Amino acid sequence: MQTKLQPLPAANQAILSVRNLSLHYFQRTVFERRIPVTALTNVSLDLIRGKTLALVGPSGCGKSSLARCLVLLEKPSFGEILYGGRNLLELKSKELKEVRRDIHLIFQDSASALNPGMTIEEVLLEPLEIHEPTLGKKNRFMRLVSACEQAALSSKWLTRRPDELSGGQRQRVAIARSLVARPKILILDEALSALDLSTQSQIANLLLELQREHSLTCLFITHDLRLARMLAHDVVAMKAGRISDSPPPSLLLTPDIHAKPTPVGVVSIAKDTENIRLQEMPSVNE
Ligand SMILES: Nc1ncnc2c1ncn2[C@@H]1O[C@H](COP(=O)(O)OP(=O)(O)O)[C@@H](O)[C@H]1O
Ligand SMILES: [Mg+2]
Repeated sequence: MQTKLQPLPAANQAILSVRNLSLHYFQRTVFERRIPVTALTNVSLDLIRGKTLALVGPSGCGKSSLARCLVLLEKPSFGEILYGGRNLLELKSKELKEVRRDIHLIFQDSASALNPGMTIEEVLLEPLEIHEPTLGKKNRFMRLVSACEQAALSSKWLTRRPDELSGGQRQRVAIARSLVARPKILILDEALSALDLSTQSQIANLLLELQREHSLTCLFITHDLRLARMLAHDVVAMKAGRISDSPPPSLLLTPDIHAKPTPVGVVSIAKDTENIRLQEMPSVNE
């Protein structure tokens, strides 16, 4: 029998916890031998309800692998993903539908995954058909309108097909498609990286608004510290598949902030710039 997930936790509590997650891939060589590649080693972190955690680190350090594990596109070799009081890695496929509605991944190339044969309206309504098939026509339309408003999508686009829109417009459609099902956790894996600066700021503002109004929880994977500073409450850095004990130098905070207790590898980013100054450094990878 399918058991319901438990109610959402109170503010400032973890909505999702990753515990000791390890992931190995097996890469085939020319001689058909399978060589194990370690992508994640003993990764633990918490997503706090209604907050954004930025995940930064150099290319190949395992950020996307972690994101894919959280939406169960990869099966970790070891560890737990705790959500609603249960370990997602132990759920049966029938029980995963609710989780798939609650936790969404948007990646850099999400726009390219939009079905080219569908109109934007069909693309946006599809998640509702999957996750809320009993929703009436009128409610469905209202949800569509509100997701379009949230993602600043023009109603003119609804009758168009994905290849009639620009890359930035398509990525906004991909974001609206995620929002229409009202996920509780949004994982953005370099989702804004390919967009121009003004679209980036527009979507960043949209995410901040959703967080204020709907307590959306975000894992924001990025190499762009400007965006991380704009959006994130905390930052965690990864290096070679592990959570790095030392935060990137660019995120070092002034001494008064270091006085605040923060978990290993996590740095609080303040929205209140009067109280907190981040040292200026251009890139995580430097
Ligand atoms: N599907 C896959 N098969 C084999 N190895 C992979 C696969 N995906 C990623 N990797 C390897 O896992 C490591 C972490 O990759 P990834 O999670 O994509 O890092 P990041 O997102 O931080 O750039 C890299 O060494 C990468 O080559
Ligand atoms: Mg990646």
